[in-house]
Amino acid sequence: MIIKTNSFVLLVGLVCLCCCAEGTKIKVKAHHVKYKNPKEKINVRVEDLLARMTLKEKLGQMAQVDRGNITAKVMKEYNIGSVLSGGESVPRTQATPRDWIDMINKFQNWSLASRLGIPMIYGIDAVHGHNNVYKATMFPHNVGLGATRDPELVKRIGAATALEVRATGIQYSFAPCVSVCRDPRWGRCYESFSEDPNIVKQMTDFVIGLQGEIPAGSPKGVPYVGGTDKVAGSAKHYVGDGGTTKGINENDTVIDWQGLLNIHMPGYPEAIAKGVATVMVSYSSWNGVKMHANHDLVTKYLKDTLKFKGIVISDWLGVDKISNPPFTNYSNSVLLSIQAGLDMIMLPYNYIDFVKFLTEHVNNKRIPMSRIDDAVRRILSVKFMMGLFENPMSSYEYIPRLGCQEHRDLGREAVRKSLVLLKNGKTPTAPLLPLPKKANRILVAGTHANNLGYQCGGWSLTWQGVSGNNHTVGTTILGAIASAVNETTEIVFSLNPDTNFVKANKFDYAVVAVGELPYAETKGDSVNLTIAEPGPSIITNVCGAVKCAVIVVSGRPVVIEPYLSSMDALVAAWLPGTEGQGVADVLYGDYGFTGKLPRTWFRRVDQLPMNFGEKNYDPLLPFGFGLTTQPVNKR
Ligand code: GLC
Repeated sequence: MIIKTNSFVLLVGLVCLCCCAEGTKIKVKAHHVKYKNPKEKINVRVEDLLARMTLKEKLGQMAQVDRGNITAKVMKEYNIGSVLSGGESVPRTQATPRDWIDMINKFQNWSLASRLGIPMIYGIDAVHGHNNVYKATMFPHNVGLGATRDPELVKRIGAATALEVRATGIQYSFAPCVSVCRDPRWGRCYESFSEDPNIVKQMTDFVIGLQGEIPAGSPKGVPYVGGTDKVAGSAKHYVGDGGTTKGINENDTVIDWQGLLNIHMPGYPEAIAKGVATVMVSYSSWNGVKMHANHDLVTKYLKDTLKFKGIVISDWLGVDKISNPPFTNYSNSVLLSIQAGLDMIMLPYNYIDFVKFLTEHVNNKRIPMSRIDDAVRRILSVKFMMGLFENPMSSYEYIPRLGCQEHRDLGREAVRKSLVLLKNGKTPTAPLLPLPKKANRILVAGTHANNLGYQCGGWSLTWQGVSGNNHTVGTTILGAIASAVNETTEIVFSLNPDTNFVKANKFDYAVVAVGELPYAETKGDSVNLTIAEPGPSIITNVCGAVKCAVIVVSGRPVVIEPYLSSMDALVAAWLPGTEGQGVADVLYGDYGFTGKLPRTWFRRVDQLPMNFGEKNYDPLLPFGFGLTTQPVNKR
């Protein structure tokens, strides 16, 4: 600023000074400013931009708001850093990729119209493919991927997911979940790759697929997202969400420090080493301390010890749930979460109070500006690193990748490799599987045989999942069998046949698909872990009258022992997603069964929690169990 005796220059200088101070009137247009220059180093751009930001602009960057609450005024006035789609927040039912891209670009233009023109980043739960989106490929949920024991496959799924997310113009996914579920009564157990932290560690290769391979020699803990065909990820939910008492969701994980480190922590250093861009904090508590208010674990451990340089983001309403009872004393909850070290808050609605209270805490020196600057530096660094300042607008170029055949084939491969064969024949010398493609007449029965929604499970088109075949595109188990068997084989489908019907029709064999109805989060918490009615009676009615292969479609082990002796074969299919053809591939011997249990299969619920390596380990089928078959058909 040149101060000369000339009053005109002085006046101009004063006008600029007061405008910058208010930060509302001057739009920074000059392209010579450092933060707008892609030739400048990221840290130089960050510091230049940070120095120009008002407190309100900084706090706006720390806010993530659901798309339903976004207007041009909100984006411009509050400088909102991120927008998201919650579990079922979509532009419209069966929205097309163009609908998504046009919506996101509208939000982005509003964001770029703010004084400093900082681009927003858009996030969504693409947790088993781009599951919120009509016609997207839905891969097996994580429990099934854990059964594959194939990190390379999971990396490819990450890459396919990134392409499908970009096909809708979105740059950020809240995945992978690196929980270690230790009690299948937990409603989110299917989001966990395994009860074994070593398998969870291996499956963090998903991050490499989703974000891109971090360049050798990259500085430790710095996020890496490489290219417009990749998206930022989120390792979640930090930490110990899978170890809550009795598997009660969002409850308390009571375990000592060594136990937390050995069982629940391993996925995080692994994901950080692979460049994960964000870490999402868990709703749960550790030994009574809410994770969203846990400075020791968020700042002292994740940031200072693990050297994580990315964004620590809250869960949905996670700050509001700090208080007891939840949703009370929001001002104090905001104070506790930011003091703990959270950088971005998935509000997802209350940006007015968030900014108001946080401004008060800063002005009253309860929160130092250095804490705010740490958060905003992390947010801006990820945005600069991802190229959002240079490429803020989403393009239509990736639209053909959504649900493309290549990805569906990948999904089918994942389904094949995820199925675990638990029983094959009533005697070892009389295996039932693989089934013959050529038969006179076969029966396909059960609640899950012809229901795409059921086989996708929760986090599919809606938060809690759906029922039926008209919500998206895919192949049911019935459809897969119909494609696999010889055209002369007659297929009879019956949802819930009685024994007389089965006997009267003289079927060569039956395939029975039963399991759990879709659920997500707390709605999935269970104390009895039973197969949904009338599944058990379908098993007994059919298997009592004809040779039967039972397929259990579930997010976790369920009560099966009472029916096991009646079955000739039993397959755990987990939640396979849209590509049901993979089930037929192994049922009929085009491929062999290779999957291994990623979780202990208990006898009775009163044994829980029960994990391999623990005392009194007396499972129906142990962790790692899985029968194999050889392919019998020429491919
Ligand atoms: C949910 C989940 C979290 C998800 C977020 C956004 O409540 O806990 O896994 O990413 O909210 O949908």
